[in-house]
Amino acid sequence: MQKISVKVLPRPYVLMIDDGVLNQAGSLLRQEFPKRSRVVVVTVPRVRKLWGKALSDSLKKSNFAPIFVTLPDGERHKTIRTVEKAAEQLAQLGCDRQTVVVAFGGGVVGDTAGLMASLYMRGVDFVQIPTTLLAQVDASIGGKTGVSLRSGKNLIGTFHQPRMVLVDPEVLKTLPDREFQSGLYESLKCAAIGDAALFSAMEGKPAQELRNDADAVRKMIISSVKFKSKIVATDTHENDLRRVLNFGHTIGHALEAESAYRRFLHGEAVAWGMIAATRLAAATNRIDTHSARRIINAIRAVGPLPAITARGKNILQLLRADKKNADGLIHFVLPTRIGRVEIVNDVPETLIVAVIDDLRNSTEV
Ligand SMILES: NC(=O)c1ccc[n+]([C@@H]2O[C@H](COP(=O)([O-])OP(=O)(O)OC[C@H]3O[C@@H](n4cnc5c(N)ncnc54)[C@H](O)[C@@H]3O)[C@@H](O)[C@H]2O)c1
Ligand SMILES: [Zn+2]
Repeated sequence: MQKISVKVLPRPYVLMIDDGVLNQAGSLLRQEFPKRSRVVVVTVPRVRKLWGKALSDSLKKSNFAPIFVTLPDGERHKTIRTVEKAAEQLAQLGCDRQTVVVAFGGGVVGDTAGLMASLYMRGVDFVQIPTTLLAQVDASIGGKTGVSLRSGKNLIGTFHQPRMVLVDPEVLKTLPDREFQSGLYESLKCAAIGDAALFSAMEGKPAQELRNDADAVRKMIISSVKFKSKIVATDTHENDLRRVLNFGHTIGHALEAESAYRRFLHGEAVAWGMIAATRLAAATNRIDTHSARRIINAIRAVGPLPAITARGKNILQLLRADKKNADGLIHFVLPTRIGRVEIVNDVPETLIVAVIDDLRNSTEV
């Protein structure tokens, strides 16, 4: 078992990675919560069907009384309405502040259940058991919770750190290929912004090749988790340092919002966002063309992406409304070399529009 401590305030916690750790969830939760009995597992139907029994059996063995609350599946349900409905169920079940909420699913479940846990009775404890690659390498770490508005992604949210995170690579076996690939992009993001060794290990490998190599997947999860944990520990509330994690997300979030969260998986939108940001960095002479090519090629090598259909000017409009534009400026995380990025706010708007329009029109990027 690999244990990684996430040293955040007010209370550090441990993230455990191991094949089969799902079956130890009961005993691990019992150690953390010796006197509790009620556990509410928030999940989606597919995850419940595939892995719910394993979790439920493990919890029962350690004398917990698990109750499943099932949310509608999909990014478009990541809304305050879903949070309200789930909280309503907790209330009807008579859940009090001693209840432990377990977020059991992908990043959507983690963000939604995390937000609910932070709000229900002004906050109850929660545990993350991420079941997608994206959630295992990224979304379950850092304590950011949130839901989206029609106007933009993740516009409502809180910081609420989990009490523990359990990562079981075995559950990825049932993940659809496209979802696996989507998760790879967030891992590649960690690599591109701060882990050149991870970048080299992933570079040029198609998703399927990585998927067939359990050892490589495990190492990739561990490297990504370590990287993200280190960053969030130095900047729990996203003041500055942590913003590097938004590489690819400025345009990525806009692409998701523009297509009503239907066209792209989150990782796919981030992949396009990273390609666009790398183009912007090259066009403003922040990165040499060779390194820029390497980043773009590494993203493309993972696999095909759904084409961009949005117009540059529409994306720009969304960027102007994005929450990260403090001081009215559009902030970008731009790569300066492999493993290094900088945050800039002076990218010309005409260039942003031109890059998006170019990516939309060209099949080769
Ligand atoms: N809080 C953060 O720091 C953070 C970071 C990155 C991303 N996110 C958020 O995460 C979300 C994306 O997460 P996601 O990519 O995990 O998507 P998701 O939660 O929608 O899950 C994708 C799909 O995979 C299915 N699934 C989950 N586990 C499975 C398994 N083991 N086997 C088979 N199917 C399974 C689900 O049913 C779902 O349909 C976005 O909303 C994004 O904003 C949050
Ligand atoms: Zn992301």
